[in-house]
Amino acid sequence: MFNADTFIEQTTKKLASDIRGKALIAFSGGVDSTVCAALVHKAIGNRLIAVHVDTGYMRKNESNHVKKMMEDLRLNFLFIDASNEYYSALKGIEDPEKKRKIIGEKFIRVFEKTAIEEHIDYLVQGTIAPDWIESGGELRDTIKSHHNVGGLPKDMKLKLVEPLHDLYKDEVRKIARALKLNVSERQPFPGPGLAIRIIGEATPERTMIVREACNIVETEIECAVQKGLMELPWQYFAVLLPVKTVGVHGDQRVYGYTIAIRAVQSVDAMTCNYSYIPHEVLDVISTKITNTLKEKVNRVVYDITNKPPGTVEWE
Ligand code: XMP
Repeated sequence: MFNADTFIEQTTKKLASDIRGKALIAFSGGVDSTVCAALVHKAIGNRLIAVHVDTGYMRKNESNHVKKMMEDLRLNFLFIDASNEYYSALKGIEDPEKKRKIIGEKFIRVFEKTAIEEHIDYLVQGTIAPDWIESGGELRDTIKSHHNVGGLPKDMKLKLVEPLHDLYKDEVRKIARALKLNVSERQPFPGPGLAIRIIGEATPERTMIVREACNIVETEIECAVQKGLMELPWQYFAVLLPVKTVGVHGDQRVYGYTIAIRAVQSVDAMTCNYSYIPHEVLDVISTKITNTLKEKVNRVVYDITNKPPGTVEWE
């Protein structure tokens, strides 16, 4: 049986003895990186520098939220806006694995540059077990290369520290609760961000569309949960499909994108069941998306696939 307090005590001791100089943590503001930052900060204090990279593929208001979290945790932090670099690197790229690898490698290059400037030797990552298992670790098939595993360049100069490497999400949440971190119940958000919620090329325009749609799905589902209409899903978001279809707005023809609503229940992300969203909630989501994104989206569909055979994210 996993005991969060024992894990915190043992891991903090080990980190304090293993990390000799300064360390940099890739801080996304999700449960994994926040727990990881809190543990390493406990172990080495201000020798830890938290770096948040705004890739341009963040959720609505996410970067402000992350800044506030780093301040609340009293972390020594740097905020890097690399959105234009990411948009250029992903220009014309449609293959999901290529997208993931480019994003993963870019993260490391940004961190390496910062590490040289700040004389840092260690890179801390909040990698958890499903990340490396699904990235083909331990002789398994590669389902998808998680950005913090498959994208790591072979010539990386930083020493890697991954305190949560063998844990599952529910265990990480237990540690978050033990450390009284209010991020503990936050839904997961993948490192590659909205780029893997846009099927095909992740252009700035498509990113704007899926960001708005994701925000509507999140807001309306949370509102429905508050009203007691449904159970809070483990994860819930929107996906943009590059398929354009014909629709009509008023008496105008619209040739727009399709948005898929994805909401799932899971314990450890290794398997999931799709969530039951009541029709009245689906109705509101669909209307809000097509009204807010009038000339861009004219069709909304609901994904009713479990994992397996699907995965949580579409790429
Ligand atoms: P999949 O799509 O593999 O997702 O069923 C399982 C869980 O992992 C998240 N996910 C990622 N998290 N980096 C991350 O930090 C990634 O590259 C990545 N890909 C998927 C996904 O959101 C879900 O919670």
